[in-house]
Amino acid sequence: MRRILFTLPGNEGLATAIATAMDAEQGALSLRHFPDGESYVRILSDVKGKQAIVVCTLHRPDEKLLPLMYLCRALKDLGATTITLVAPYLSYMRQDKAFQPGEAVTSAYFAALLSSFTDGLVTIDPHLHRRSTLQEIYTVPCEVLHASSLISAWIKKHVKEPVLIGPDSESEQWVSVVAHDADAPFTVLEKTRLGDADVRVTVPHVERYADRTPVLVDDIISTARTMIETVGHLKAMGLKAPWCIGTHGVFAGRAYEDLLAAGAARVITCNTIPHSSNAIDVSSLIVPALEHLLKEKHLPITDPTQP
Ligand code: R5P
Repeated sequence: MRRILFTLPGNEGLATAIATAMDAEQGALSLRHFPDGESYVRILSDVKGKQAIVVCTLHRPDEKLLPLMYLCRALKDLGATTITLVAPYLSYMRQDKAFQPGEAVTSAYFAALLSSFTDGLVTIDPHLHRRSTLQEIYTVPCEVLHASSLISAWIKKHVKEPVLIGPDSESEQWVSVVAHDADAPFTVLEKTRLGDADVRVTVPHVERYADRTPVLVDDIISTARTMIETVGHLKAMGLKAPWCIGTHGVFAGRAYEDLLAAGAARVITCNTIPHSSNAIDVSSLIVPALEHLLKEKHLPITDPTQP
């Protein structure tokens, strides 16, 4: 089966790496906005009878969702056999329950929407907190990948005598794996979030690691308040300037600059979201998972307009 890969703006680097590794044709698109702000999508390549792969990481999802849906629906209308979405960062995973009465549980609604116009999803370290698998909310087959092995290899290569620090007790399961593979000790913090950008952390006794380089690892750096708070505590306790590693560098507003200004020695992210801090390439994870999904698990798309 022939494959054709389409890229939404901002994903070109990763998409080219995937297309090259899979020997897939790169599809041509015309995307723009009409003067009134509505989206225009035109597919310029022949997609009939081909397996379409769409690469679109989903930070700032509200502005991406409609063009993405229009593209996927048009691919199907033009005869693509399957639509597989590669979204290295999957958004709307943190609102996984109503914390206040009346709140929308957007992780479930978002999952239903993506599942309605795709046949499969490949993603990396989605924020699974109160849910144990994506299949609890996604009705299409999902390949969930983990960047932990790439992060530990990077730490092993670049940081001398590290001690890994996780932001909260939930992170222990994967920080312990990264630490084990990087041959480093680790500890985790107690974190309380009081608001979108108001985070308090309690740092356990880390004085014994005074000779080591602290490496903060988290799945998401969004406002960076979690890391900024931690950096402040570690500095106050006399530790070396920490390195901060996030799988997904969302960096809301001036989060990146603020984190550096707070005293982070370096800020490193995976290229799941394009950013100048990207240093860990995830394309080697995506290609085999995509092959597996395309060969083994693909289901025909269901047309929500048909009874
Ligand atoms: C939360 O549970 C996540 O693991 C991260 O700790 C969180 O998303 C980081 O957010 P922020 O950068 O806004 O503190």
